Amino acid sequence: MKRSLPFIAGAAVLLLLVILSTTGKKPPLIPADKTHRAAISDESCGPCHGPGMPSPLKAIHPPKEQCVHCHQRSR
Ligand code: HEC
Ligand code: HEC
Repeated sequence: MKRSLPFIAGAAVLLLLVILSTTGKKPPLIPADKTHRAAISDESCGPCHGPGMPSPLKAIHPPKEQCVHCHQRSR
C-alpha cells in the first residue's frame, strides 16, 4: 500500500495541471495592425497598455513581464 503513494501524488499533480491548462484563459492575439507591427519590444507595449492609456490591462491581468511570451502575433 505504501508504495502506491508516490503514484497517487503524481497522478494528483498531473490532474491539477490538466485542469489548469484547460480552464485557464487564452491570451488574446496581438492584432496585426500598423501599431502592433511597429511595437517590436516588450518595453514598447507599456506606454499604450499601462494604466490610464488607450488600452489598459485589466486589474486581473496575469504577470505583466515579457508580453510576447504569452501573446502570439496574429498575421
Ligand atoms: C501605440 C499604442 C500601442 C502599442 C505600442 C501597443 N499596443 Fe496593443 N493595443 C493598442 C490599442 C489601442 C488596442 C485596442 C484596439 C485594437 O484592437 O487595435 C490594442 C490591443 C492589443 C491586444 C488585443 C487585446 C484584446 O482584447 O484582444 C493585445 C494582445 C495587445 N494590444 C498587445 C500588445 C503588445 C504585446 C504590445 C507590445 C509588443 C502592444 N500591444 C503595443 C495600442 C498599442
Ligand atoms: C503570463 C502570460 C501573459 C503575459 C506575460 C502577458 N499577458 Fe496579456 N493577457 C494574458 C491573458 C491570459 C489575457 C486574457 C485575460 C482575460 O481575458 O481575463 C491577457 C489579456 C491582455 C489584453 C486584453 C485586455 C485585458 O487586460 O484582458 C491586453 C491588451 C494584453 N493582455 C497585453 C499585454 C501586454 C502589453 C503585456 C506585457 C506588458 C502582456 N499582456 C503580458 C496573458 C499574458
